[in-house]
Formats: sequence, structure tokens, C-alpha cells
Amino acid sequence: MNFQSVVFEGAAGTASQLFDSTLPEIAFSGRSNVGKSSLLNKILGRKSLARVSATPGKTITVNFYRLDTARLVDLPGYGYAKRSHSEQKRWSDLVEGYFTSNRNIKLVVQLIDMRHAPSADDSNMLEFLKNSGLPFVVVLTKADKLNKTEFAARTEEFKKLLADSGAGDPIPFSSLSGLGVEEVRRRITETERTF
Ligand code: GTP
Ligand code: MG
Repeated sequence: MNFQSVVFEGAAGTASQLFDSTLPEIAFSGRSNVGKSSLLNKILGRKSLARVSATPGKTITVNFYRLDTARLVDLPGYGYAKRSHSEQKRWSDLVEGYFTSNRNIKLVVQLIDMRHAPSADDSNMLEFLKNSGLPFVVVLTKADKLNKTEFAARTEEFKKLLADSGAGDPIPFSSLSGLGVEEVRRRITETERTF
């Protein structure tokens, strides 16, 4: 898998606009503002391919990034409180549409902001992933915002939470310092065995 071959293919705003699943897919999921776009840019080695937002939850689209042998799929963030009811509905239709349309999903990269305990939405997503049988990995974002003691405690907490989940150990990550970048790339590349 060549991360440098990336091209932005387009965005889907409704389930019917989702690209046909013609390539193995690696999906990125997490709450709004968790650092999904920043992580994508970091692992792809691009400064601003995925738009990093100062205001979270602005756009509700599934964004497709094509590599030589796979697609990276940026799912819209959940848990943005200021969304209207109809926008929430559009979000859940779109994400449900993504996960229930028999796609060739090889890995879900689930991002969680490690400054906080998992939100109710994070916990629901983890439950969904555990029950889905989809391979997944948890990336703990914004690691640079914690001091050493907090970092160690939070990492341990998530390790315990994920024990027996099949996800393996969580990966502490920082798009500022570059912590975890290689490990995330490794876990993604590893899926190629299953293509
Ligand atoms: P939405 O697409 O709006 O849901 O957000 P997102 O999950 O794509 O997050 P994005 O990458 O846009 O980052 C949101 C904010 O968090 C921005 O202000 C980023 O600069 C900041 N941020 C992202 N990753 C990190 C990180 O590892 N460390 C720190 N300190 N800030 C980060
Ligand atoms: Mg984003």
C-alpha cells in the first residue's frame, strides 16, 4: 500500500451517493473534533488534503481517499450537540448506510480523544464494533495535551477497556508530535494480508 499515491475521490452526503465498494476499505470513525482529518493528513504525509476545522461538525459527508490498493474512508463525526434534529437524522442514515451496505471493510480506525473518558457515543460505537465482527483498532488522539501521569493512566484505562475486544492495544497518537504515526500506518498496511 502506497500512502503517497493518495487522491481525494469525492464526498457522499447521502447513503445513495456512497461510492461503490470496489476496493478494500479502511474507515475512520470518531466524534466530531476528535482529530480525524489531522490524523489522515499526518499518516498520508500531506499538510491539508483533509480539511482541519476550527468549528466542528460543519460538514456531514463521507469522504473517499483512494490509494493504489485500498480506499481510506473518512466518516462524518458524531456527537456534535448543536446539530438540528434533521441533520442528526441525516448523519445516522449516512453512517448506518455505510456500515450496512455490505462493503469490503477491512479495518475501522476508531478515534477517541484521550483527554477524556469515552463519551456515551464513543461507548456505543465501541459496542457496535465489538459486535459487528469488523476488525478495528482504537487510536487515542491529542496525546500531547496530557502530562506524563495522565498519559500513563489514560493509556492503561483504555488498554483494560479493550482487553478481549479483539482490537489489540490502543495507539496513543498526536498529530502535533507525530507520536503513533508509524504504528497507525503499520496497522493499516497489515490489513493488506486480508485483501
Ligand atoms: P470534524 O471533521 O470537524 O468532525 O473534526 P476532525 O475530527 O476531523 O478534527 P480535526 O482534525 O479537524 O481537528 C479538530 C481540532 O483539533 C483542530 O483545531 C486541530 O488542530 C486539533 N487537533 C487535532 N489533532 C490534534 C492533536 O493531536 N493534538 C492537538 N493538540 N490538537 C489536535
Ligand atoms: Mg474532519
